[in-house]
Amino acid sequence: MKPKLVVLTGAGISAESGLRTFRDSDGLWEGHDVYEVASPSGWQQNPSLVQEFYNLRRKDVLAARPNAAHTGLAALEQWYDVRIITQNIDDLHERGGSSRVLHLHGEILKMRSVHDETKLYDIREDIAMGQVAPDGGQFRPHVVWFGEDVSMIQPAVLEIVQADIFVLIGTSLNVYPAAGLVNYLRADVPRYIIDKKIPPVSDSHDWTLIEKPATEGVGELLRLLRP
Ligand code: APR
Repeated sequence: MKPKLVVLTGAGISAESGLRTFRDSDGLWEGHDVYEVASPSGWQQNPSLVQEFYNLRRKDVLAARPNAAHTGLAALEQWYDVRIITQNIDDLHERGGSSRVLHLHGEILKMRSVHDETKLYDIREDIAMGQVAPDGGQFRPHVVWFGEDVSMIQPAVLEIVQADIFVLIGTSLNVYPAAGLVNYLRADVPRYIIDKKIPPVSDSHDWTLIEKPATEGVGELLRLLRP
């Protein structure tokens, strides 16, 4: 049996693929306050703006390509049972070759009715206002907004408690419940962080800190973890 390597990723792993992070530009996400475009109240106030915003994000994702950090994690599958938990809504882990990817905050290439978060539809084009699901509800992007339930948190906790090795990449750990996942790691699990600017983590455990861009950092991780 291969050791289980659990990786929690955030926007920083996709930065070198050209996708913007959330908190690196004055709290604005592509020029918008994140609550304006990523909350139920933002959607209520101006659904067309929110829809258009995610239509643009979908185009960006389709135009982006996985980078060496994504493909490096896939390469680790030769030796490890790699489980990716990502906060990202892009599909760059999948296109980078990773076989087990859990999306905590949804997927931009899926949509759903405003009335039903369980039935998902693939979408690679724009979603139009007035475009409705069979249940009559307006289609919206399948992304988790601030204040909405993170329904994938339970399966993510199950992965975390079984981890033999843990790696955190490119997340500021600002957003819960994702940021709380590290608290479920077993005490003796070796843990690594790769980030351009290491986020604050509890110092009651030893972390191996790799303060580098994700592509370079995953290269180093490969050297450290290759048997
Ligand atoms: N390589 C490695 N790390 C990087 C790079 C890079 N090239 N560029 C930026 N980073 C790091 C930053 O230092 C920061 O720690 O990536 C992190 C990005 O943090 P955030 O922008 O806060 O993104 P993230 O933690 O993924 O946000 C979590 O917040 O808005 C919500 O739902 C959204 O999933 C998102 C969640």
